[in-house]
Amino acid sequence: MEPAQGLKADFLDRGWCRFGADPALAAWAAAVLPAARAAVAAPANAHWWRCGGTWFVGVNALPNGDDGAVAGGPPLAGRAVDFVRRDLGLDIPWDRAWDRAQVSVCRPGYPRPWAGESEAALRYRRRRDAAHVDGLLAEGPDRRRHPREAHAFILGIPLAAADPGASPFVVWEGSHHVIRAALAERLAGLDPAAWGGADVTGAYHAARRRAFAACPRVELPARPGEAYLAHRLALHGMAPWAPGAAAGADGRMVAYFRPPLSTPAPWLHAP
Ligand SMILES: [Fe+2]
Repeated sequence: MEPAQGLKADFLDRGWCRFGADPALAAWAAAVLPAARAAVAAPANAHWWRCGGTWFVGVNALPNGDDGAVAGGPPLAGRAVDFVRRDLGLDIPWDRAWDRAQVSVCRPGYPRPWAGESEAALRYRRRRDAAHVDGLLAEGPDRRRHPREAHAFILGIPLAAADPGASPFVVWEGSHHVIRAALAERLAGLDPAAWGGADVTGAYHAARRRAFAACPRVELPARPGEAYLAHRLALHGMAPWAPGAAAGADGRMVAYFRPPLSTPAPWLHAP
């Protein structure tokens, strides 16, 4: 087993890491799969389909409790969970950290054009994996960006097997350093409680361009039992479905946890 200190240094340097096959996480994934399938099929969740039926966004779609468990299943556990809890050193309200998980599903052909999105947005999906930084919500007709949500990290846990080309998670390695520097400059002198009111669109777009130019694009396909972790400031997205990539009836199904930080300042300033 990789020593946690090495893994932590690696994660903080690159802005991502992965966790190999883990029986505890495999058991959790197997136990939540029926609930995830039910969530994807539920008429009440039909509004989550985007991109011509090739992407189910599924925010908070998994009916797990505070311990990550669905009814009758085990709590969320394993090396990835130990790492974020014990080694990252972030101030997270752990008793309610495992909010209902996102269930993200991609199907062959992602991304198809659809009425809810512009040509430019579709091009950005195809060429740049719809790359973004979580928490910088685009608001209004001009999609102005404000730091509204302070997530601690993004933990991705595959629930079904799929080929590596089946719309894997993509991260720009080291981009969290670029994004952090740009936002720290833009938000300097502001009370963290007021960050949500700051328009960071210009700084964000410039930093994103620098990250595309300077940072390697890394695809992180994974199988049930494995997991990957992205830094909260890392530029990331989802690759188009590669021609010929195969998956089962579930498509490429991943559960994502993004616990909130207790206070906003560490979102920008913690390692
Ligand atoms: Fe994201």
